[in-house]
Amino acid sequence: MGTKEFGSNACLYSFPSLPQTIFLLYLSPSGGGNQTKNLSFSPFSLANPYTRNPIFKPRTTSLTLSRRRRIANLISGPLSWKMDRLDGPARLMIVSDLDHTMVDHHDPENTSLLRFNALWESLYRHDSLLVFSTGRSPTLYKQLRSEKPMLTPDITITSVGTEITYGDSMVPDEGWVNVLNQKWDRNVVLEETAKLPQLKFQSETEQRPHKVSFYVEKGHAQDVISSLSDRFEKRGLDVKIIYSGGIDLDILPQGAGKGQALAYLLKKFKEGGKPPINTLVCGDSGNDAELFSIPDVYGVMVSNAQEELLQWHAEHAKENTKIIHASNRCAAGIIEAIGHFGLGPNTSPRDSSDILVSKLDNFNPSHEVVKFYITYERWRRAEAEKSDLLIQSLKHICVSMRLPYLPRFFKYFHFTCTLILVKSFILHPTGIAVHPSGVEHSLHECIDTFGPHYGDKQGKQFRVWLDRVFTSQIGSTSWLVKFDKWELTDDGRHCSLTTILLNSEPGNPGAFSLLHVHQTWLEGFAARCQNDWIF
Ligand code: GLC
Ligand code: MG
Repeated sequence: MGTKEFGSNACLYSFPSLPQTIFLLYLSPSGGGNQTKNLSFSPFSLANPYTRNPIFKPRTTSLTLSRRRRIANLISGPLSWKMDRLDGPARLMIVSDLDHTMVDHHDPENTSLLRFNALWESLYRHDSLLVFSTGRSPTLYKQLRSEKPMLTPDITITSVGTEITYGDSMVPDEGWVNVLNQKWDRNVVLEETAKLPQLKFQSETEQRPHKVSFYVEKGHAQDVISSLSDRFEKRGLDVKIIYSGGIDLDILPQGAGKGQALAYLLKKFKEGGKPPINTLVCGDSGNDAELFSIPDVYGVMVSNAQEELLQWHAEHAKENTKIIHASNRCAAGIIEAIGHFGLGPNTSPRDSSDILVSKLDNFNPSHEVVKFYITYERWRRAEAEKSDLLIQSLKHICVSMRLPYLPRFFKYFHFTCTLILVKSFILHPTGIAVHPSGVEHSLHECIDTFGPHYGDKQGKQFRVWLDRVFTSQIGSTSWLVKFDKWELTDDGRHCSLTTILLNSEPGNPGAFSLLHVHQTWLEGFAARCQNDWIF
């Protein structure tokens, strides 16, 4: 282990056997003098930023609890999702259907979905909740995610509100399973439906423990539904029959459905003392109607909503001013509703052409990083102007961190401070970028490679989006930003888990400098041609 002291109250540890290891240095409030020896540190490997086992346990720590929690959340956030991910109630909880609502199947460019993604990750992810509520089973939901540039929601409600799961690993809510098990007999449903020849079974993947699904032609729907209702009543089974999209017929326990699942979640948040400040539900078809009948929520029926939903609205919710029929399709309709109801900012970073100029009052690292990658996408698609000025301003962001500067740099931290350094950082005179292949370049070199790549994706498939952007302020002006960076190309989709260390300029919201970028391939999503992945 090598150590190096900087100034009177900072010390740097390096382990030759552990390249790319990040060191957290906690300086004690009484740091300096003899106390410098009481430094405690907790390194975690950047090669696997999701590792939960720090190689060393902090010996002593002078970090405040909340700051420790924030850092712990940052490290473990994507691994496990907890109801209390947020410190307080969600500023906005969006509960959105997927097919023809969040996802526009008529737009191969996914324009509005990408606009929504950029808006969400830059301005909402940190204090709001994203809930997807779909009729699809988990199998078909995962298939959709592999086809479309979708974000990872905090909560996923699948199979028409019969399955609630949390986080990326989709941990099921067992409480909801227990609720649905009461008064449900799947066998009776199968027996009675077998008697009606107009019902055609949907695929095996869509038959779920609390959902039995068929296709029924529009012309037969009314008759089939009333015949089924009579039959179930005679058998003493209280079920819910939902007709959607002019073709799908779902049979669920009476207490299930998208609306009931949302009511269950809202109750849970309330019991935890964190009911969302605002909730916006979004849908386009019959199985979404229930979402709009939950008290106190805002609702948007996207412009392309199905007749059956509009009819339900006309009959049941016409007077409700908290529900609109948007004039925009799909995700653009959701963005429209955020603005219409004043639920928060609704200008996506993708809506602006002047992307490097920050219009926010406060420094927001997520916003800066999202904008940075939109610029990168536009550069390679030749949608940004080819100017040296842009390269120069990008270079300006990637500030040189000369070693003699470090002691001064330390002084900007609180006495109780957390500092993240990277071993390789000592070896490079400027900030560095660690490519997912493991190769290191200085950030300046990295920006230099932008030039020849201008327009290399013009006329080809090339989209960039960020998912799961989590930030943590680790010093008075320094931030750690962690996210999944995705690229969709003609060659498939690729993703790297990215960690960025950046420094903000106090009093100047748009100004920041990149100190370090580290990327690791997400398993199964490495680019075949590694040179094609620049940043
Ligand atoms: C999705 C499901 C299907 C269901 C339909 C309507 O398409 O895959 O099973 O019937 O939504 O809820
Ligand atoms: Mg839909």
